Amino acid sequence: METKNKQFKRYTVTSALPYANGPVHIGHLAGVYVPADIYVRYLRLKGEDVIFIGGSDEHGVPITIKARQQGISPQEVVDKYHNMIKDSFERFGISFDVYSRTSASIHHETASAFFKTLYDKGEFIEKTSQQYFDEEAQQFLADRYITGVCPHCSFERAYGDQCENCGTSLSPLDLINPRSALSGNVPVLRETKHWYLPLDQAEGWLREWIVEGHKDDWKTNVYGQCKSWIDQGLQPRAVTRDLEWGVKVPLEDAEGKVLYVWFDAPIGYISATREWSEKTGIDWQPYWKSKDSKLVHFIGKDNIVFHCIIFPAMLKSEGSFILPENVPANEFLNLESDKISTSRNWAVWLHEYLDEFPGKEDVLRYVLTANAPETKDNDFTWRDFQARNNNELLAVFGNFVNRTLVLTQKYFDGIVPGPANLTEKDNEVLALMDAFPASIGASIEAYRFREALGEFMNLARLGNKYLTENEPWKLFKTDPERVKTILAVSLQVVAKLSLLAEPFLPFTAKKLSEMIGLGGLNWQTAGKTMLLSEGHQLGQPAFLFEKIEDEVIELQVQKLMETKKANQQAVTPQAKPQKELIAYEDFARMDIRTGVILAAEIVPKTKKLLKLTIDTGIDKRTVVSGIAEYYSPEAIIGQKVCMLVNLAPRALRGIESNGMILMAENSEGKLCFVQPTENFHPGSEVK
Ligand code: MF3
Ligand code: ZN
Repeated sequence: METKNKQFKRYTVTSALPYANGPVHIGHLAGVYVPADIYVRYLRLKGEDVIFIGGSDEHGVPITIKARQQGISPQEVVDKYHNMIKDSFERFGISFDVYSRTSASIHHETASAFFKTLYDKGEFIEKTSQQYFDEEAQQFLADRYITGVCPHCSFERAYGDQCENCGTSLSPLDLINPRSALSGNVPVLRETKHWYLPLDQAEGWLREWIVEGHKDDWKTNVYGQCKSWIDQGLQPRAVTRDLEWGVKVPLEDAEGKVLYVWFDAPIGYISATREWSEKTGIDWQPYWKSKDSKLVHFIGKDNIVFHCIIFPAMLKSEGSFILPENVPANEFLNLESDKISTSRNWAVWLHEYLDEFPGKEDVLRYVLTANAPETKDNDFTWRDFQARNNNELLAVFGNFVNRTLVLTQKYFDGIVPGPANLTEKDNEVLALMDAFPASIGASIEAYRFREALGEFMNLARLGNKYLTENEPWKLFKTDPERVKTILAVSLQVVAKLSLLAEPFLPFTAKKLSEMIGLGGLNWQTAGKTMLLSEGHQLGQPAFLFEKIEDEVIELQVQKLMETKKANQQAVTPQAKPQKELIAYEDFARMDIRTGVILAAEIVPKTKKLLKLTIDTGIDKRTVVSGIAEYYSPEAIIGQKVCMLVNLAPRALRGIESNGMILMAENSEGKLCFVQPTENFHPGSEVK
């Protein structure tokens, strides 16, 4: 358990390795990279020994699927996106100590060796089983190469490894109505051998470690997911795949097999640390193997099982590694009330933001933190972005700093005045402000970044209110001594803000600390009251933030509207190809009539079937129809339908069905009636 008092000597902070199959968007940032960056920046200011690990996840099926779609090699795909992601993180101030990639040779070596160690220790089960195979593509269908209906939530496009709707981790054999993502074909089963991590055997210690040990310090969403997996009973999990792209399985009899991407990717954290070690000459091992190191994984909620159960099980099997102290996973960020989606281009892309809003990195960092999906899914809207910039950053923080610095410039040539007589109120403000570093720090250490940022803004509010209430601009002529005191107090708040801003708003913090000529502080000294001494020369004041106008926001909203329009056109599904030609006589053999539904009831013990009584104009007869999923019996009495009346009778669930109601079926398999548009009498011919 993460005991409050346990002292750690060093921190190993990882952030989920993004798949190098697309650029980074605000969802990634809010969920993972911004909170992780706040955390490490804070730790560094506290003088802690911390490494911040990142890198690209370059294996796995999404990457080969993308390569196939674009007609290029997987390596070309990952090269393109790795460079793009790395560059935009850098521009955005995500302060990795190393940003590596899993196609790097050091990673292939590390992951191979890790597998080999587990293999040699007898930690795997070897198992031959039947797996789905696409005969047309001549390929086994692992993970995202196969889709189908989720057995838990009935989502139609669940993948072979996970349902993105309910988050459940799946195996291809769990899917209902499986289809190959390569050809759309129904797959066949074929035999293949793989290596499995026997998670069932880890259940005991996992329960003790998480369910009992981390009940109080892991976030409820993380703890709850873990507990429910453990309670459901863990199964052995295959850690190899029949694929070309990935880390080759380092065994003799493993031709054409690679490590499962979720086996190799988290080892990427270790490989990246080794890369950092080679670069800096600092030993990497204590960061991963020493009990006085604190390992923290920043991830999104879809990664919880991998970081809390599977990777720890791998580390434990290996034997020499520590386990994470905490895994502060976030929920998801939506965009304008809609799920962010790379494939539907429904996102604010980091590289585009950086190009379109130069110098406003901190505005996005601010909005994503203030609105972080820490305990539930949250929504990003451009209006909120504008409002938070204009009403909070600019009106409170920026305005306070600017007024203080401009007045000091005007009255005292930018030289920090000494306080004359401190009133009770002045002392109260000074005392209040000294408590902020500790309270902000406590929130950050508890992974409550919104709360920490809220506290930071409360300090700015405190200063702003103090200045507004004291109105030094009205007093200068009559009482310049009082003005000295007011500005001296305000300047101490400004100085404190410049330091405390660093984890959240690093660009602004740098600008401000340069402006006031105050550097080299740390979180401990920030607790001191007088950071700027009397007589200190301040630099020229400049604005920290600028107003974001309506036009700028409208442009962004417009851009999203266009995406929405394009998506709506794109989702009009391809109609099935036309069937072969027939003669009119073939058609004329069908006797189709209009009819009216007189009665309807569900066929007992079925979900889909309705027993209908139809007035066909010729007679009143019974028809059994598979429409119960789309129409309730009560709702359809009196509906006009078209019906094939000369279809030979068939028995369905013991009921004789005399004909067939005509239905239209869309690409999702949904049915609706084909109906006459006029009030024609039953028995009218359809031809
Ligand atoms: N690429 C994965 C994702 O985007 C995250 C991998 S995290 C790691 O969901 F631990 F495996 F590296
Ligand atoms: Zn599901």
